[in-house]
Amino acid sequence: MDRRAFLRTAAAGAFVASGSLVWAQSLRRLPVIPLTDLTGGIDGRIPLALGPGTHDFGTGTASQTFGINNSYLGPVLRVRQGQTLPFDVRNGIDEVSTLHWHGLHIPGDVDGGPHQEIEPGATWSPDVPIVQSASMNWFHSHMHGKTAQQTYKGLAGVMLIEDDASLSADLPKTYGVDDFTLVLQDKAFDPAGQMTYESTGEVFEDGFEGDTLVVNGAIAPVAQSVPTGLVRLRILNACNARFLDLSMANGPLTAIASDGGYLSSAVEAESILMSPGERYEVLVDMKSVDSNALNVSLGGGGGFLANWFGGNQTIAALTLTSNGGKGFSGTMPNTLANLSPPDRSQATTTRSFQLEMGGGADLAALALAWGNVCGGGVMSINGQPMRMDRIDERVRKGDTEIWRIAVDDMLHPFHIHGCSFRILTQNGTEPPAYAQGWKDMVHVEEGWSEVLVKFEHDAPEDAPYMYHCHILEHEDCGMMGQFTVT
Ligand code: C2O
Ligand code: CU
Ligand code: CU
Repeated sequence: MDRRAFLRTAAAGAFVASGSLVWAQSLRRLPVIPLTDLTGGIDGRIPLALGPGTHDFGTGTASQTFGINNSYLGPVLRVRQGQTLPFDVRNGIDEVSTLHWHGLHIPGDVDGGPHQEIEPGATWSPDVPIVQSASMNWFHSHMHGKTAQQTYKGLAGVMLIEDDASLSADLPKTYGVDDFTLVLQDKAFDPAGQMTYESTGEVFEDGFEGDTLVVNGAIAPVAQSVPTGLVRLRILNACNARFLDLSMANGPLTAIASDGGYLSSAVEAESILMSPGERYEVLVDMKSVDSNALNVSLGGGGGFLANWFGGNQTIAALTLTSNGGKGFSGTMPNTLANLSPPDRSQATTTRSFQLEMGGGADLAALALAWGNVCGGGVMSINGQPMRMDRIDERVRKGDTEIWRIAVDDMLHPFHIHGCSFRILTQNGTEPPAYAQGWKDMVHVEEGWSEVLVKFEHDAPEDAPYMYHCHILEHEDCGMMGQFTVT
């Protein structure tokens, strides 16, 4: 029996019949995450308070959670290119934390990675310059060894960057009316309906996978009524470890943007495979139909299919129904952004990264010891588990590089801080059309995944950037490295 099979068998007893059918019986309304719109100007500093809370996901029972200005998750921050965001991030939880701006092109000292720890009761006040184009980004805990737990409990939020082009673009943009932000997560609940998290060898191996899909903090399926016209969905996979496969109940998905901004033109896809950490924006045509649904199924990676929605492979996560009102009357856009194909001849350096899992026995031991931190654990990149006091790579500012990443077991989502990149190859082949624009996540499973990347901001020795697997348990267990840009 190999290591994975062994861990599965050993853990199988823990996976009893799923609760998801119990919780998912009725259709809930889509919660609209509170919007903090700063595009019109910023008055003083921007408070973000991390704190404990309680939240009912729809089980009828309050769960212990964390939130940022809310009892669960953070606000949707809407900001504008050219602004500098003066944050006051106050840590009101009982443990050390950090707040990382995932996707932002900002210097290492304001990146919010593991080196910018915020003690309980303390406030971190970075001035975060927004230099990049319109894009959907997010922020989450990056406390080394505790990222998985803290993010799962709710330390995550969304940042929508707008620019002149996006503000004047002929696209739906009325928040909560025809423009929706969706945070997708999988959760586990105990029989009493409280959110649970467990760390076993299996959990470290596959990453934590819940059996219940949650949309903006509400157990799916959820529903939303919308006016007649185009509707925009800005989607974040904020799962710790689940790959999600998205599709529409009727017709193809129309993708208009990926992690780092608009695609060159709208792309029709039968389905989009989203890794943890990825963002995609899609348009849904609600002109000619009365209803449509965003379907979510389990995609790739590990996990038990039987443990997903009580055995259902696909769930109509969000049903949109037309309310007959007059909505966005424009048409599907043809061109969105000016993107030339990535040119690998621009690269002056090539670096290779081999992601490695630890042994099953080590993982099981780690799980037992995991009350605190598994930082410095058994997973690694190029044979080295993450160490806070070791710089793994040194990049020259302004250089264009090719980073090639490989792995030998399961599907891993690889992320690089401080940049957006273009994917040259994913799993040894050309990426799907929807993944050919700006990205900061790439899938790695078979063969090489290669990205073309340029670093334009400073990350000194005491505030390096991270690159890592975005399965949060893998990251916490050491599948992460540090690099400087100087
Ligand atoms: Cu989304 Cu290093 O993180
Ligand atoms: Cu990041
Ligand atoms: Cu991984």
